[in-house]
Amino acid sequence: MDNFIYQNPTRLIFGQGQVKEQLVNQLMLFGNKILLVYGGGSIKRNGLHEEVTTLLNEAGFKVSELAGVEPNPRLDTVHKGVEICKTDEIDVLLAVGGGSVIDCTKAIAAGAKYDGDAWDLVTKKETPEDALPFGTVLTLAATGSEMNSGSVITNWETHEKYGWGSPLVFPKFSILDPANTLSVPKDHTIYGIVDMMSHVFEQYFHVQTNTPLQENMCEAVLKTVIEAGPELVENLDDVKLRETILYSGTIALNGTLQMGARGDWASHNIEHAVSAVYDIPHAGGLAILFPQWMRHHLDKGERKLVQLAVNVWGISTEGKSDRQVAEEGIERLEQFWSSLGAPNRLADYDIDDSRIGEMADKAMARGPFGNFNALEKEDVVAILNAAL
Ligand code: NZQ
Ligand code: ZN
Repeated sequence: MDNFIYQNPTRLIFGQGQVKEQLVNQLMLFGNKILLVYGGGSIKRNGLHEEVTTLLNEAGFKVSELAGVEPNPRLDTVHKGVEICKTDEIDVLLAVGGGSVIDCTKAIAAGAKYDGDAWDLVTKKETPEDALPFGTVLTLAATGSEMNSGSVITNWETHEKYGWGSPLVFPKFSILDPANTLSVPKDHTIYGIVDMMSHVFEQYFHVQTNTPLQENMCEAVLKTVIEAGPELVENLDDVKLRETILYSGTIALNGTLQMGARGDWASHNIEHAVSAVYDIPHAGGLAILFPQWMRHHLDKGERKLVQLAVNVWGISTEGKSDRQVAEEGIERLEQFWSSLGAPNRLADYDIDDSRIGEMADKAMARGPFGNFNALEKEDVVAILNAAL
């Protein structure tokens, strides 16, 4: 495996009732003036907004609010948050929501300590040198943003969506109460399952050798989600299943699985280009694109695809060529995601071939990408065409 240094400073606080138990204590460590950041209103409908603001007000914090963070959070909203941080002299931010709210909070936290436009940090023109501290109360199991240093921001004026990151934007703490995910509707529950599985795939497909523990851990997370996911989609109010999926989502992208090996991340890059143009849900795009990325690698990545088919899907190799086993594994993945209710063609979002060149150019903005196997523009076009 590769040499590595691993440090994840986020304090993970997991379990029912932990918002009431821990939120005030954790925030007190960072100051008195809080910016509460949230999305389009789900936390008002499920009572979490009231619970959190009551706790903060009773503890004597001075609370400012930024509401309306969009799914696929936008630069405009980051700008609004930075402005509030500066005018209200915010000490600490609190993100209450899914990955979009957390990602937006990360960009605000770094943007508030940067003199120029926060977009410079997202485009990696500049590196953040400081950031406000922030904590999170996660409401949706999907991205892993609650325990990683990544963030994805969309500039809707230029139709660009980029991932960026910095060790400065690990959450100081994240509170994960599975009960806070009970109200996530079926579609976003499915997207979350697809997203966390995709994160594992991105890390599973690497070229490093002697990584048996990394691969076993990836397979264990996948098997856990494959078992619990369909049950959860049928029983959305089962808090034990919510708990399993919530923990899986965090482990899938908090760095645990990628020590000593560089993941691929090409499918995510292509998806970001698709949702920069069409604003579709991130994991809806992944459900469509990932199987096609795998098919595109049948020649170069057959060994790993066979391993996935056998170890995760339990496909028998008897009387079959490696190619057949690998193909069967990809089909099983497609069937699994479809059976949950995820989309599997770009046409499901009314996307045709008219803007494939534009999407491919956006995906190529930072040059050839993918560590398992670097993709050029023609590869991206082929994958998008296969997904139509
Ligand atoms: O906005 P509200 O009203 O809160 O509603 C949200 C939103 O409509 C709703 N929701 C969240 N929690 C809920 C709930 N509805 C009812 N009850 C609850 N408890 O769900 C919808 C989707 O929320 P969003 O935060 O957009 O979803 P997700 O967590 O999947 O985040 C997606 C974003 O994360 C980025 C994606 O690109 C996308 O922009 N990613 C971030 C990553 C990271 N930081 O590490 C990695 C990922 O691969 C991903 O790219
Ligand atoms: Zn993702």
